[in-house]
Amino acid sequence: MCEIMKEIEKLRRRIDEIDDQLLELINQRLMVARNIGDIKSRFGAAVVDARRENQIYQRLSSLNGGPLKEAALHRIFQALIAAGRGIQSPLKKGSLVPLYVVIGNPVGHSLSPVMHNSALAHEGLGGCYLACQVKDIAAAVAGIRGLGIRGASITIPHKVSVMEYLDEVDPMATDIGAVNTIVNQDGILYGYNSDCAGGVQAISDKTVIKDKDVAIIGAGGGARALGFGLKREGGVVTIINRTPSRGEKLAGDLGCRFRPLAEVNELPYHIVVNATPAGMTPDVDGIPLSSSLLEPETVVMDMVYNPLQTRFLKEAQSRGCVTVDGVAMFVHQGAVQFELWTSLAAPVDIMRQVVLEELESR
Ligand SMILES: NC(=O)c1ccc[n+]([C@@H]2O[C@H](COP(=O)([O-])OP(=O)(O)OC[C@H]3O[C@@H](n4cnc5c(N)ncnc54)[C@H](OP(=O)(O)O)[C@@H]3O)[C@@H](O)[C@H]2O)c1
Repeated sequence: MCEIMKEIEKLRRRIDEIDDQLLELINQRLMVARNIGDIKSRFGAAVVDARRENQIYQRLSSLNGGPLKEAALHRIFQALIAAGRGIQSPLKKGSLVPLYVVIGNPVGHSLSPVMHNSALAHEGLGGCYLACQVKDIAAAVAGIRGLGIRGASITIPHKVSVMEYLDEVDPMATDIGAVNTIVNQDGILYGYNSDCAGGVQAISDKTVIKDKDVAIIGAGGGARALGFGLKREGGVVTIINRTPSRGEKLAGDLGCRFRPLAEVNELPYHIVVNATPAGMTPDVDGIPLSSSLLEPETVVMDMVYNPLQTRFLKEAQSRGCVTVDGVAMFVHQGAVQFELWTSLAAPVDIMRQVVLEELESR
């Protein structure tokens, strides 16, 4: 036993030595990154260079012959590069760091912090995005005003109740009846619904929406936001829902057709969207309706993103359908938020990559 402890102690000392060297090297690397940032700033060049960062990842993964997994290598260097951007930040010493939050209850599982913090770091913006578990939405909105928080994501259960505390609500969010994004512009709070535009963008990446027949399965918040977005894009929407009264209500608000889920025995649509939690972890064998009803070449979207490849999407793919995963919608709604808050184009590829890595590591 004593010999084993001695051996462990020896190995731990070796780890400490390696950590010392790593720390020294990381600081050296940061100093070089800062020098590059200073030179670029002097010549007015953009400090962040996504192409160069890609080259770094590619070079290192081609060199990696050890037990370090590709995803872990990526995460480690992503953190190093983000730390480099932090000290290259255009924010001067003493200037205020812009704060962003996600407000919900529960909120610990939210992927938004990792997504938005990576986007902020990638753009060299030096802001910080935090998760806040909130019971009292009125107090939280007062906090946004009082603390000068630049932007907030609003999630379950506050998307509807938050609306009465805002100064202005975007007409589309008013129609949907839910706000998931707040922009604080010089103390005036504006509300938006980015689920709507995010879902539309995720589908538009795969197909034209105008004049297409679209079936949305579900009649909750997700279906409502996407339904309004697809209608605005010229899609011909049908709501399919398990509980007829709820489906009829949404169809009435949208001015579109309704079909009870139990009576569906064919799906003659160009686009079919699962906006129910069927198939979401831990119910991974769940499916909103039989995939045998799907016609080949239909564009099938699943709003569920955990797992990324739901049973519905896997079966749709094997039937020859084009698929859109829930992360696409999630990332695009986040990109809309980022653009509203910063007026910069969101680094969508980076956002998707970190969200996928985060999901994989959970
Ligand atoms: N990817 C994204 O960015 C994104 C955005 C929003 C939502 N989502 C996901 O989309 C899903 C729905 O979210 P939501 O907020 O709209 O939920 P919600 O408001 O609770 O609505 C759920 C809807 O699904 C139906 N439903 C529930 N379980 C079902 C089942 N086993 N079979 C058939 N229908 C079922 C319900 O029908 P009844 O009316 O009969 O109860 C209801 O219409 C969730 O998994 C959520 O995580 C993803």
